[in-house]
Amino acid sequence: MSQANRSLVTIDDLSNREIEALFCLADEMSGSMSDQSGLCQGKIMASLFFEPSTRTRLSFEAAMLRLGGQVISAADMGATSLAKGESIADMARVVGSYADIIVIRHPWEGAARVVADYAGVPVINAGDGSHEHPTQTLCDLYTITKERQTIRGLKIALCGDLKYGRTIHSLTYALARLGAARIYFFSGPGVEMPAHVLGKLTQDYGGKLIKGPGDDTQSLAETLGGQSVDAIYVTPTDSHQLALMPGVQIKVDIRDGAIYVTRLQKERVGDTGPGAASKKDYPVIDARLLRRKGLERTLVMHPLPRIDELAYEIDADPRSMYFEQAARGVPVRMALIALLLGAKELIIPQEEDSLVQKLDYHVYEGDPGVKCANRLCVSNQETEARYIKPKFKIVSLDPLTLRCIYCEHELHPQYIASSDWHEGKLENKKYHSAESHWIRKIKPENLIIFDSENEAQARGFKPSKYVTVDR
Ligand code: NCD
Repeated sequence: MSQANRSLVTIDDLSNREIEALFCLADEMSGSMSDQSGLCQGKIMASLFFEPSTRTRLSFEAAMLRLGGQVISAADMGATSLAKGESIADMARVVGSYADIIVIRHPWEGAARVVADYAGVPVINAGDGSHEHPTQTLCDLYTITKERQTIRGLKIALCGDLKYGRTIHSLTYALARLGAARIYFFSGPGVEMPAHVLGKLTQDYGGKLIKGPGDDTQSLAETLGGQSVDAIYVTPTDSHQLALMPGVQIKVDIRDGAIYVTRLQKERVGDTGPGAASKKDYPVIDARLLRRKGLERTLVMHPLPRIDELAYEIDADPRSMYFEQAARGVPVRMALIALLLGAKELIIPQEEDSLVQKLDYHVYEGDPGVKCANRLCVSNQETEARYIKPKFKIVSLDPLTLRCIYCEHELHPQYIASSDWHEGKLENKKYHSAESHWIRKIKPENLIIFDSENEAQARGFKPSKYVTVDR
């Protein structure tokens, strides 16, 4: 499939093969940065950054200029019509008529998806709230592959704010898909990896999650400063039989892998949110830590900006990769823009990604039923709720699990009914527990899902005898 006219909203919008081929193109471009100015001549990129940015914005703009294109920009939401109550769909339509490609950073989760749905031109997500930041992940993966030739089989520790860090979420999905052997989650207190990210990891990529493994992760915990590891994700390529056998010691070793650390996302945590008060227990990477046995070759990575979690004293250490990650942003984004604008094409044989199951989830349109519970989801914003219909992928029936198509948070609604209830008889208009056998009996196209019993009753449904289920 050609990459032209596609959008990059989540890292899953690129296949494994496409990511690898994009890196070859980035290699080619980085070898001759000033010879690329014919590729996107006459094209315009709109750069919409409604949250602070240095690296991402400037590297996108530098990339477009290097490709011979032009840039128009809006950096302050307060100076756009969004401040007058305009919806992002209307903004997307308008900007899409001025530019050939849009790069957007926005505080609402799922905002980039909405822009991509309405702009009519390719859209690149440069960070949407805590959801995803796929191009940072491309820079991260590119850096790891430059240093280690492959992602496959590596063991990587993700440290810091795993809850709100969007770079962490995109990177975790990509590492799982590209066959990193194990991913260790080592969070700051109160900012552990969210349930919906863990859910997607196991549901979509098929690996195993070992939670709260206690002694098993002691060696990593010791290596990384004595705190406990929250969980380990073991990807399907790794032989995890041993890891899953109770009482068997996991040999934790990130010697050839990487430690990826992030700052506490204080703009999302706030002054009182989880993690705000516990600065002293936040993971810190410093010279003392890097002297520990087992980290002699380990790459130290960070998306930047840093606060206190990454000491300046290790900047000159050959293991420190964070300025490389930033510098590689320009050729990586040049390659991406050139592909989405159709100035270059990657010829990829029929997708052979064995790791990514072809996921064909049924999409449930919840109007007027269930709503996404994430208050930062774009679908819950006043200006957007006028036209966005909540939509969910049904990712599991046992238990019933809906994934919001905008922010990807998960819901587990309790009550269901069939729209095909009547057969002419009002007494058949019944709702049931989502845990009952009805969840498999009702055809997906007839399924109605309720947030609560009250809602089911308000819509004229009566409880069936399957409204409570003993499990
Ligand atoms: C990151 C972001 O914006 O999510 N920055 C970046 O793009 N390199 C990380 C962060 O702000 O902590």
